[in-house]
Amino acid sequence: MDIEVGRFSGEARDFYTAAEIAFGTHAHDEDIAHFIATFEPDRAIAATEAGEIVGTAGAYSFAFSVPGAVVPAAGVTIVAVLPTHRRRGILRRMMRHQLDDVHARGESLAILWASEGGIYQRFGYGLASLHASIKLARDRAALRLPREPVGPVRLVNVAEARQVFPAVHDAIAAHRPGFFARSDAYWEHEFFPDPQHRRDGRSAAFDVVHETNGAADGYARYRIKDDWEHVGPNSSLVLVELMAANPDAHVDLWAYLLGVDLIGQIEAWDQPVDDPLLLLVAEPRRLRATIGDALWLRIVDVAGALEGRTYRSDGELVFDLGDEFCDWNAGTWSMTVQDGHARVVPSRATAHIALDVTDLAAAYLGAFSFAQLAAAGRAREMAEGGIGRADALFRTDRAPWCPRVF
Ligand SMILES: CC(C)(COP(=O)(O)OP(=O)(O)OC[C@H]1O[C@@H](n2cnc3c(N)ncnc32)[C@H](O)[C@@H]1OP(=O)(O)O)[C@@H](O)C(=O)NCCC(=O)NCCS
Repeated sequence: MDIEVGRFSGEARDFYTAAEIAFGTHAHDEDIAHFIATFEPDRAIAATEAGEIVGTAGAYSFAFSVPGAVVPAAGVTIVAVLPTHRRRGILRRMMRHQLDDVHARGESLAILWASEGGIYQRFGYGLASLHASIKLARDRAALRLPREPVGPVRLVNVAEARQVFPAVHDAIAAHRPGFFARSDAYWEHEFFPDPQHRRDGRSAAFDVVHETNGAADGYARYRIKDDWEHVGPNSSLVLVELMAANPDAHVDLWAYLLGVDLIGQIEAWDQPVDDPLLLLVAEPRRLRATIGDALWLRIVDVAGALEGRTYRSDGELVFDLGDEFCDWNAGTWSMTVQDGHARVVPSRATAHIALDVTDLAAAYLGAFSFAQLAAAGRAREMAEGGIGRADALFRTDRAPWCPRVF
């Protein structure tokens, strides 16, 4: 039977239900309703066989933070193929369709979280941000120095959290590479819903707000997994999200979390890899910090992507770019940065460096330097000083961080 891949025009409910089966779960009615609220039907791609959905791929139209700017990006999501139809090239066909569509829309970037790290590099996605996980035993969780809190941390109900959280988040999001802007529908249907079947045996969420001079400048949402042993409480506090607009809010919120009674350990999964917490605690090793891949980024249009972000210093870089899957990017490009803004054009000049589009993606948000890529045998220096020249342009202050999986 022939399999067709193209724009999906059926019911969003059927699209979501098919994808959930491919992910090995059954869709809950409540989740279907939330999915439909943020679903972008004109970006949905389906593989069908005799009219039945066998593969899905979707995307959100994100405003995405890159160094010094916010740009449009395709937030690729709900990519799945039914277990009955795998390894026949359906994903490849959907990726082809999707990246051509993103290109035609004039978006220079596509981003995604991968269920498995081995899937997307073949389509030109590079590892563009990392996340840190911690699991800290509370009896070893002292801060380095005792300190008085700067502002109060208040427990708030969900209604107040809905009022306060978005503004705190938005002020940070605009300046931190890796964030996507959250719509009202996103807060309403993705962030705040707290159905029991999504809690993995943990409590409903607790929300706290930090204030300085009466103005909210940080928040945390967490759950507690109850565990009473015969010797006493050993529950886990599991952080859902912590946002702090300044260092005082960050320390006060962490001091609060580390101080919650009856807790044996504090767990957090998607934290920035440069989180100041590592420098705040008395025993950094006890954080049991591990890192993992977070955002994968596809440079869909190389000139648009490089002109979309800003740069710390001015200069010129000529580079040879390989791109098998989107060959319109392949070739030699010259990038001239003036006053922090780049102009990128095809070039016949001798390249300073040569690299693949996946490598450029790894450097794009600032997660990796060109020196790191060169050390891994990925970026190659073609003219003396080429790697240093590229690093001088692309260097950023903060590690990119995407605080939510989408
Ligand atoms: C991942 C998934 C979408 C792949 O779909 P598929 O139709 O079987 O993939 P294709 O047949 O088009 O394979 C394309 C390429 O990806 C590779 N590939 C597919 N799944 C892979 C995986 N899980 N890990 C590593 N490589 C994978 C194939 O080997 C193939 O490689 P090639 O082009 O070099 O020959 C499918 O297995 C699935 O739905 N998995 C469960 C849900 C999931 O993880 N979705 C991804 C969410 S981010």
